[in-house]
Amino acid sequence: MDIQAGAMSVSSGTNEGYESRQLKAHSITEKYWLEPELSQLHSWLASHGIEWSSNKLPKFKEGGSGRAYFVNDHVVKFTANKIEANVAYMASKYKSSPTPIIDVLPLGSTMYAILQHHVDMNVSKDIRDAADYITAIVDDHPDMEGFPSDRKTQEQLSRAVLADYGGDIKLLPYMMTVLTALHGLYRITGFKHDDAGPTNVGMQQDKVVFPDLGPNETGDFDPDKAMEKISQSRRKLDLPPWKEI
Ligand SMILES: Nc1ncnc2c1ncn2[C@@H]1O[C@H](COP(=O)(O)OP(=O)(O)O)[C@@H](O)[C@H]1O
Ligand SMILES: [Mg+2]
Repeated sequence: MDIQAGAMSVSSGTNEGYESRQLKAHSITEKYWLEPELSQLHSWLASHGIEWSSNKLPKFKEGGSGRAYFVNDHVVKFTANKIEANVAYMASKYKSSPTPIIDVLPLGSTMYAILQHHVDMNVSKDIRDAADYITAIVDDHPDMEGFPSDRKTQEQLSRAVLADYGGDIKLLPYMMTVLTALHGLYRITGFKHDDAGPTNVGMQQDKVVFPDLGPNETGDFDPDKAMEKISQSRRKLDLPPWKEI
């Protein structure tokens, strides 16, 4: 089997954006399960109490740029995105973070495995719709620093976006819940999650959590710039400097 097959997507035309150049963490990640001598994946999982036989590929779901493998009540998400991996690692240091992240393993210089608790992604339509409108707030306020934590600002922003896009006012409390969770993530990492949309929110014991910390990769997305932005925000938040993994 050619494990490199499908690793790099083919760029089309002259309008070549970051998304099309980015390594996709799809079929290429199978080797980490099936050829354990290539990586410490199995020993790392064992150190977290998760045993998996090295001749079996777990069930998986393909994401936009990564792949999530389901191992009992855990998920191992592979990503080639260093922002996603670094933010996940930052969040893993906090027990009460609004993410199900447990740990992150770098695999070489361009691939990472993110160990998470399995969470309920079948969240209510109200939470999904609320998350959708929150991404609209992010898009409409590109200069906003992180997310507001005070209820008055949360309510103002939410009411405005619901009015602008004809959203149901009953979503207001759900939007405030999502904003509070996003503020919590920002406060401990410096990362302004701009892609916490309907498919990227989960519920963990009645708590809104973000298993997918991948940033919104627009055409001109630059991982180094995104990392620098996080460092700036960390300084403003009085968080310690971050050493990239
Ligand atoms: N911790 C988790 N618990 C349950 N399902 C998950 C978890 N993490 C990811 N998934 C599922 O796996 C799929 C791909 O994961 P995702 O992180 O969204 O990938 P991508 O970043 O490529 O969009 C999604 O359908 C998501 O619902
Ligand atoms: Mg996703």
